[in-house]
Amino acid sequence: MNSLRELIEQDTNHNLLDLLSSLCQGSIAVDENCNILWISDAYRDLINISHTTDPIGLPVEQFLPTTQLPRVIKSGKPSFVDLMQIKQQWCVVTRLPIKNPEQKTIGAIGFVFYDDLDSLQPLFDKFARLRRKFEEEKILRPSRYALDDMLGSAPATQQLRRQALRAAQLDTTLLLLGETGTGKELLAQGIHHASTRRTAPFVGINMGALPEALAEAELFGTAPGAYTGANSKGRLGKVQLADGGTLFLDEIAEMPLAMQAKLLRVLQEREVEALGSNRLEKVDVRIIAATAKDLRHQVEIGEFREDLYYRLNVLPINLPPLRERLDDIPELSGHMLKQIQHQSQLSELMLSTSALQWLQHYHWPGNIRELRNRLERGCVMAEGEFIEATDLGSNDELPSKATALTGSLEQTRVQAELSAIELAIKRCNGNKTAAAKLLGISRANLYSRLKQEQTH
Ligand SMILES: Nc1ncnc2c1ncn2[C@@H]1O[C@H](COP(=O)(O)OP(=O)(O)O)[C@@H](O)[C@H]1O
Ligand SMILES: [Mg+2]
Repeated sequence: MNSLRELIEQDTNHNLLDLLSSLCQGSIAVDENCNILWISDAYRDLINISHTTDPIGLPVEQFLPTTQLPRVIKSGKPSFVDLMQIKQQWCVVTRLPIKNPEQKTIGAIGFVFYDDLDSLQPLFDKFARLRRKFEEEKILRPSRYALDDMLGSAPATQQLRRQALRAAQLDTTLLLLGETGTGKELLAQGIHHASTRRTAPFVGINMGALPEALAEAELFGTAPGAYTGANSKGRLGKVQLADGGTLFLDEIAEMPLAMQAKLLRVLQEREVEALGSNRLEKVDVRIIAATAKDLRHQVEIGEFREDLYYRLNVLPINLPPLRERLDDIPELSGHMLKQIQHQSQLSELMLSTSALQWLQHYHWPGNIRELRNRLERGCVMAEGEFIEATDLGSNDELPSKATALTGSLEQTRVQAELSAIELAIKRCNGNKTAAAKLLGISRANLYSRLKQEQTH
């Protein structure tokens, strides 16, 4: 037997094919190029292939865009149990590679099961466990913060607070842009609290932490019986749960493209369609999205829908990195130290002058979240009543000239960046705005790097 086609053609009485059909509610055979060799009548009906269409010889993907059969052929490995959504219905599928005597894969067969899924309860239990685990990991977070919890009086922080207050008075979609740890989530919660929606729910969901297989159901909900068995009640999605309130979509750049289309409908039509339902429900949610990525770039590389980008980008708010608001550090660290000491019932510790200096010279890639972590570490490491610079981090981590001789990676990076900045300024005839643009950083960022350079 050298090709699966031959095998199927030899089966003139269709004994084998009938056997396959009777085993399940749909089966399909493809050759090594993933073209359809045979498909059972039930499967044809399931995926709505019209009677006038002859799928034989055509690529399987043309009829089943989400098919994994190509992967099975490529890897030569079976996938015994998997969940797959076919025409809004959750199905259990099994895929087997077919090999010739030389162990070369010559095709594959797929089986679909969609009713009487009771025997698959263990699988659904596993699914449920996965979901629980993910909820425990606090992907769903209630609103805990008001705008007053946003500390700091550096000019950039004050401006941010003013923007947030104004945004709270409007009811438009917001896009929060900033590096990790700059306070995007805190700001989203604060804006919700200061808005007219404050008495309605704030529902947050982190697209980055959400397994793709769960994403659609989590966001848009499931209709009764849609995918956890015929007698299940159906569940509300986060969109419906946030009705009347605010939906915070964290790490929006990670949202799968298929879901982006559905989100667009929520934004444009204020309508949502639960999984497995063909009914549109009206919803009234304000969406606040956040990302540390350059969404414009994601659009350019085809990872993010352009129309959704424009819908979200109505009112972008930039959260400056901590290194652009170093003046906030004394206030932030004073407050955080009190909190840490209160929570851990440690005795009162203070920052030494050297520690404060260290904090104000560090470049803070992890921003305010990292500040908190460093202070926690300082509280643990401190031996006297003062936290010293060495309790917070080592001097190698500072971008100062003093460490040039050690040749640390960090120092090399800082030096290289500085030369690039100098070169850019030269090339732009001293125009710093143009230089910043050339380098792809903000003007404020460029200024703060130059300022840091001068203070060393
Ligand atoms: N201006 C601020 N004042 C006080 N705490 C802040 C401020 N900004 C951020 N934080 C704290 O820093 C941590 C990270 O903030 P978060 O909102 O989760 O950042 P992001 O969502 O941008 O990663 C949180 O513990 C948050 O409470
Ligand atoms: Mg965050």
